[in-house]
Amino acid sequence: MTPKQTVLEQTKKIFQNKYNKNPEVISISPGRINIIGEHVDYNLGLSMPAAIDKYLCIAISKNRTEKINGYSETLNDSFSNNYSSNNDSRNWVKYVHGSIMESLNKSKYKSGFDIVINSTIPMGKGVSSSAALEVSILLSINKIFNLKMSNNDIIKRCQSVDHNHINIKSGILDQSACLLSKKDSIFIIDFYDMNIEYIKYNLKNIKWILIDSKIRRELASSKYHERVNECKQALKLLSIQNNKINNFRDLNINTAKEISILPPKLQKRVTHVVSENDRVIKMKEAIKKESIKQMGDLLIKSHESLRDNYEVSCTEIDRMINFSKSIKGWIGGRIMGGGFGGVTINLIQLGYEDSFIDKLSIFYKKNFGLNCDAEDLSFVDGAETIYINSLN
Ligand code: GLA
Repeated sequence: MTPKQTVLEQTKKIFQNKYNKNPEVISISPGRINIIGEHVDYNLGLSMPAAIDKYLCIAISKNRTEKINGYSETLNDSFSNNYSSNNDSRNWVKYVHGSIMESLNKSKYKSGFDIVINSTIPMGKGVSSSAALEVSILLSINKIFNLKMSNNDIIKRCQSVDHNHINIKSGILDQSACLLSKKDSIFIIDFYDMNIEYIKYNLKNIKWILIDSKIRRELASSKYHERVNECKQALKLLSIQNNKINNFRDLNINTAKEISILPPKLQKRVTHVVSENDRVIKMKEAIKKESIKQMGDLLIKSHESLRDNYEVSCTEIDRMINFSKSIKGWIGGRIMGGGFGGVTINLIQLGYEDSFIDKLSIFYKKNFGLNCDAEDLSFVDGAETIYINSLN
C-alpha cells in the first residue's frame, strides 16, 4: 500500500469505529512546498509551488442533528458543537467549523456532520496542514451536496476560512498548491489572473530537502499582517503618483525611478515583490534548461531578498543558509513560507543528501542547541475526493 492508501484506509476504519456507519465521502489533500515566489500571492504575483507526499485525510457524513461532531486522530482530540455557533477556542476546531460554514455559505443547505481527521502532514512546519484541512472539507461538502464549485471558488472559500474564522489575512498560495498540483510536475501560478502553467519535472540529479529550524512562529501574531499592509500602502502611494500603476505587475524589475518616491522601508518591500516575480520566471527557464546552478543561485537570491528587503527571516535560518554554502553538494536554498522561523527549502546534488543533513545538523546543534529535522521531497497530485458510499 502507498502512504496515501494507508492514510485513506486508516481514516475510513477510524470513522466506522467512531460513528458506527460508513462515511459518505473521503477526501485527501497533500501538504505543499513552494520552490520560489514567496510573499507575492497577496500581491498578485507569481509562485511556483508543488504538493508533497504527506497527506491529510477526512472522512465525513451528514448526520440528522444540528451538531458537528469532529474527531482528530492526529491530535487525539474531539468536539461536538452546534452547527451555527462556534465559540470553541481550539484552532483546529475553528478550521473545521469555518470550512463547513464557508462551503455552505450562499447555499440552501444546512446540516450537522460527523467527521474524522487523520494526517501525516507535520503541523506548524510550514507545509500547510491547515490548507490541506480546509481543502479536504470544501471538496467533501462540494461532493455531498453536489454544489458544483469550481476549483477557484473552492480556493477562495478556503481563503475566507483563514480571513473570517482564523483571522489570518493570508493569500491563496497554500490552498492553490494543495488543490491544483500534478504528480511529477511543478507549476507556476499567476495570482493576477489565476493562470496556471504546469512544467513536467524530470530532474534526476538533484534532490529537494526541507530543513525544519524548529523556530516556531504564529502567523497570526507575526509580522505577516504588517507586510501585507506595508505592500497595500506602497501600492496606494505609487498609484497616487502615477495612475498607470494599479498593481505591482505594472512595475518592472528596473523600478528604481518609480519607487524612489516611497519611504525607504516601502522601497525595500516593493523591491522584493518585483524581483521575486522576476525570479519565478527565471526559475521556470532554468528548470526547462535543466540549469541546476542557475536554479541554486535564484534560491539564494530569493533568500537574500526575503532577509534584506522583506525582512521575514531570522538569525537561525540566515546562519543555516550561510553555513550551507560551505557544504559540498548544496546548490542553493532559502527560507520558505510565511517566515520568521519555520523551514528552509534546499536544492542538493544527488548523493550528497545525507552528508548535507549531517553537517548542517552538527552546525545547528553546536550553535543554537537545537536539532533540525530533514524531509526528502517528492511531488504528487493535488487533493481529491476518493470515495462515495452510495449505500449510506
Ligand atoms: C503563508 C500564507 C501564504 C503566503 C506565504 C508566503 O504560507 O498562508 O498565503 O503568503 O505565507 O509566501
